[in-house]
Amino acid sequence: MMQGFTRNRKNWGIIGVILLLFGMVAEVWAGPPLGHGRRYNLRHHQGHHGQGFAGEGICPQGRVTVQAPDDIRNQTNPLEPSREVLYSGESLFQVDVQPAACKICHGVNGNGLGLMAQGLNPSPRNFTCEETMKEISDGQLFWIIRNGSQGTGMPAFKDLKDREIWQIVHYLRQFPQPRRR
Ligand code: HEC
Repeated sequence: MMQGFTRNRKNWGIIGVILLLFGMVAEVWAGPPLGHGRRYNLRHHQGHHGQGFAGEGICPQGRVTVQAPDDIRNQTNPLEPSREVLYSGESLFQVDVQPAACKICHGVNGNGLGLMAQGLNPSPRNFTCEETMKEISDGQLFWIIRNGSQGTGMPAFKDLKDREIWQIVHYLRQFPQPRRR
């Protein structure tokens, strides 16, 4: 019966289409080509050893980020951390911000292990790391979000309004703190 099926020219065409579709699906499933060995790393190695998307991230985290000018660095967040403010901050961080949502690098959980974190040196800030975060003022966070951190993967977000940045800063401050080691 299979012989009868494959002898027919039309059926070879169908088999060809199926193979082609399978190839396309497999390609998408395998993820973007990332060069030698990187695909293996990304798909299989994150997730082990607490370094996966849901891991704790690096803490304490070495930090050599440029300091904001004093007058900005010493500013405190002018907004109250109301539910609305936190919700707006969350929407911006997780989804709305252009050109790339913060979570792509900083992770859905703020642990610095987003999809694009691999290969970035220095690594994206781990907002769940109290030891590192307590050294960074609200004004500093604000200034880096607006201007980026030159020479690193952290882009400038020039289109955000002051109010939106302060909303995000409140959101960053509420990421759950990790266990003490
Ligand atoms: C393309 C990756 C990427 C995206 C997108 C990104 N970041 Fe970053 N971010 C980084 C990296 C890398 C660093 C580390 C920079 C450094 O060490 O100076 C960083 C650092 C930071 C810091 C630390 C500043 C400091 O003084 O230590 C803050 C705050 C921050 N990002 C906020 C954000 C917010 C908010 C967004 C979204 C609006 C965002 N980032 C989007 C990669 C990214």
